[in-house]
Amino acid sequence: CAAAAVIVSRRLKVRSQKCTARKILLEFQEACYTPLARLRQVVDAMAVEMHAGLVSEGGSKLKMLPTYIDRLPDGHERGLYYAVDLGGTNFRVLRVQLGGLEGRVIKQEYEEVAIPPELMLGTSEQLFDFIAKELVSFVAREGQDFRLHAGQNREIGFTFSFPVKQTAVNSGTLLQWTKGFKVNDAVGEDVVAALQRGIERRGYKMRIAALVNDTVGTLAGGRYWNNDVMIGVILGTGTNACYVERAEAVSKWAGDIPKSGEMVINMEWGNFWSSHLPRTYVDESLDNESLNPGEYGFEKMISGMYLGDCVRRVLVRMAQEACIFGTPVPHKLLEAFSLMTPDMSKMHHDDSSDLKVVAEVLKRVYGIQNTTVGIRKIVVAVCDTVCQRGARLAAAGIVGILKKIGRDGSAANGVIKRNTFEQSDMNGFHDEVPVHYTSGGRTVVAMDGGLYEHYTKFRNYMQEAVVELLGEGSKNVVIELSKDGSGIGAALLAASHAEYVIS
Ligand code: GLC
Repeated sequence: CAAAAVIVSRRLKVRSQKCTARKILLEFQEACYTPLARLRQVVDAMAVEMHAGLVSEGGSKLKMLPTYIDRLPDGHERGLYYAVDLGGTNFRVLRVQLGGLEGRVIKQEYEEVAIPPELMLGTSEQLFDFIAKELVSFVAREGQDFRLHAGQNREIGFTFSFPVKQTAVNSGTLLQWTKGFKVNDAVGEDVVAALQRGIERRGYKMRIAALVNDTVGTLAGGRYWNNDVMIGVILGTGTNACYVERAEAVSKWAGDIPKSGEMVINMEWGNFWSSHLPRTYVDESLDNESLNPGEYGFEKMISGMYLGDCVRRVLVRMAQEACIFGTPVPHKLLEAFSLMTPDMSKMHHDDSSDLKVVAEVLKRVYGIQNTTVGIRKIVVAVCDTVCQRGARLAAAGIVGILKKIGRDGSAANGVIKRNTFEQSDMNGFHDEVPVHYTSGGRTVVAMDGGLYEHYTKFRNYMQEAVVELLGEGSKNVVIELSKDGSGIGAALLAASHAEYVIS
């Protein structure tokens, strides 16, 4: 009789734990809810903020940074070029032999190394020295198949995926760090000069021909193959977008209007903010404890660096208030960033009936044993909520850009296109009609980043939301994975901005 009482009381306890955990889940789901009406508000807010950011410096939290890129690769690029890529969890160097329209990418090679974590928080000299060292040793291993043209110097495209205020196509100062980097003395510094110094300290002579954000590299890499590419998006460790804007729409631009009439704008959309975003206690605590509090709120709801931690924060609450993982709360669960997004994705994609992948991850990462299937289901539901919110917000961001450039299928569409078309034609800027306006309204978004590539449910939710938002118009919008486009894109931009242009 006593034993039966113990069993009953244990069952009641489990039931009440599940009940409290469910309540926490429901509250969280409600706070994260992004119905179509709300997404539309985000779309509109994005388009409005884009306008504001183009009008004046500091006009919006969206920095809308002119990149000095006014023409994108078109296939004519020739010669040997290098790219270095710093910005996510890995650092990469790449060389590519370009053969013009007939040959395109004749040969390419790259190497990738993890960035030593201490460099993310060290000094500028240490960081740029590391990049220079990797670049120089990669260049030293150049094989026979890669040839410099007579008179050609080694020219480099430098993909630096942080907010930079450019002062030329190959110079710019770092505005602030994002994504867990904090190398204080580099803020305000010209990052090209810093890398150049590092290369020279090693006795090498190379020229950094273009400084590009990873979104811009992705856009350039996408455009090289496809004339309809107008937007570059990264969904990886961080998130951001760039797009081709009419130069005349960039009111804050003090320079001459480029011949093409266009300018690529790096939005830094990670810093987008609007009262329509579904912010929760999780976002507040994550932001407070981050290296850049008050900044990059959109990025913190969407990108790979943060999604796992959003999930962890909900699980902490469930562990504390509903004891779902027993008592005391597993110590490691309280550690920020201990749940990485790839593990969240593994749990989310677990389709076994008893959710054994979820059990395996909880055990491996936190030493949590003996979870019931009911609790595992709750964990999956938390992953789903965080993933779905992030994906739908990313979709709203993309549609916001399409709206701004008149390619969302709304009524203004034709007008904006016709104006742009006539204007560049009339002024004699082009012998031919600019290619990307000839395609009958098809718009391609070049996409890169591990989150989009590897997190299938994220990708699906995002695509579904784009279709929901655009309706019929979605037929003219294609999101294309442009894998590693940003490295090649930087090399292509180095080619088109090289000192010695090979015709
Ligand atoms: C962060 C950076 C931005 C970059 C993005 C994706 O948001 O600030 O420059 O493009 O991450 O890597």
